[in-house]
Amino acid sequence: MHVLVAGGAGYLGSTLVPHLLASGHQVTVLDRFFFGEEPLAAARARHGARLRLLRADLRDVPSGAFEGVDALVDLAGISNDPACELDPGLTRAINLEACLATARAAAEAGVQRIAFASSCSVYGHGESTSLTEESGLAPVSLYAHCKADAERGLFALGAERGLPVTALRLATVFGLSGRTRLDVAINVMTKNAWVDRKITVEGGGRQWRPFVHVRDVAEAFRRVLEAPAAVAGGQVLNVGSDANNTRIVNLAYRIRDQVPGTEIVMAGTDPDRRDYNVGFAKIGRTLGWTPPTSIDEGIAEVLAGLREGRLDPADRRCYTLKHYLFLAEVERAYAEVALDGRILARP
Ligand SMILES: NC(=O)c1ccc[n+]([C@@H]2O[C@H](COP(=O)([O-])OP(=O)(O)OC[C@H]3O[C@@H](n4cnc5c(N)ncnc54)[C@H](O)[C@@H]3O)[C@@H](O)[C@H]2O)c1
Repeated sequence: MHVLVAGGAGYLGSTLVPHLLASGHQVTVLDRFFFGEEPLAAARARHGARLRLLRADLRDVPSGAFEGVDALVDLAGISNDPACELDPGLTRAINLEACLATARAAAEAGVQRIAFASSCSVYGHGESTSLTEESGLAPVSLYAHCKADAERGLFALGAERGLPVTALRLATVFGLSGRTRLDVAINVMTKNAWVDRKITVEGGGRQWRPFVHVRDVAEAFRRVLEAPAAVAGGQVLNVGSDANNTRIVNLAYRIRDQVPGTEIVMAGTDPDRRDYNVGFAKIGRTLGWTPPTSIDEGIAEVLAGLREGRLDPADRRCYTLKHYLFLAEVERAYAEVALDGRILARP
């Protein structure tokens, strides 16, 4: 199968793309490469001939991008709450409008499957525990609103075109990847314990959140793409495991178990409105598989990455908001001082 992975050079993509290649698929990555091409360097060296990199914007997908493509996986976009708030118009243009336009272009080009990276954050402030795919949505951020609206638009397109669309509502992801994010809860708290021997718990700590390992996310996408259309098409799947639902404060204790001597400080911040405990029975029923990696394994993996120097906690690209702020500043400075496309070098 030839899979076009939009946003394939980010945190999830740099694990999913090599996983699809190793499973025998051909992959095109369409990405702005905001975090560079480095996250895919190893995949390129290993599977070069079956991996095509297409530097393009989701808002302006080149005609012909979907030639010979069987399936679209959409991971592209601004990927967390604070980065989405930087420019709400831009966020809607990429995360919602471009997402739907790209799916439509894929359908028109004859693509047979679409798998979309949605988020359990669409449940927002969950009223009950064990929210299922049938539970009502209560998104509390622009990021989550865009996910909920994109799901609706994609399913409408799927119904109109007879195209199997699957929305994977991912739990918050953890673990190492080609572009490891150190702004997702488990990874950042582990990094803080390692670097500062201190974890600050924001938002009260009693809020529930589900988690899933980045390799398990990649496996979930692979299984969705390879499942019969009648099984995965038209489905919403929560991606995670019941065992990996936890209160944020418990995460801090579990990390301290692995980094003894870590101080845990409760911040005097407002309660976090993102509070959801999610049920994951349906993915087991549908795909015959449940994400197996535990939170404790993920903490150990991130710690090993830090200890062995494979993960640099000072690398700006590990922090989504910080990196987008940097790119916006570069764009401003460039507009002000560039001459014939150069800054310090002579034109
Ligand atoms: N990481 C998580 O915990 C998590 C949880 C739930 C859902 N998701 C969703 O999964 C998807 C991937 O998340 P991630 O953590 O890998 O994010 P990421 O920021 O690491 O990757 C996003 C990729 O999209 C690219 N991109 C951004 N705007 C683009 C544009 N206009 N055109 C082309 N490419 C563009 C970036 O260059 C980047 O490579 C996102 O949609 C995110 O919302 C992530």
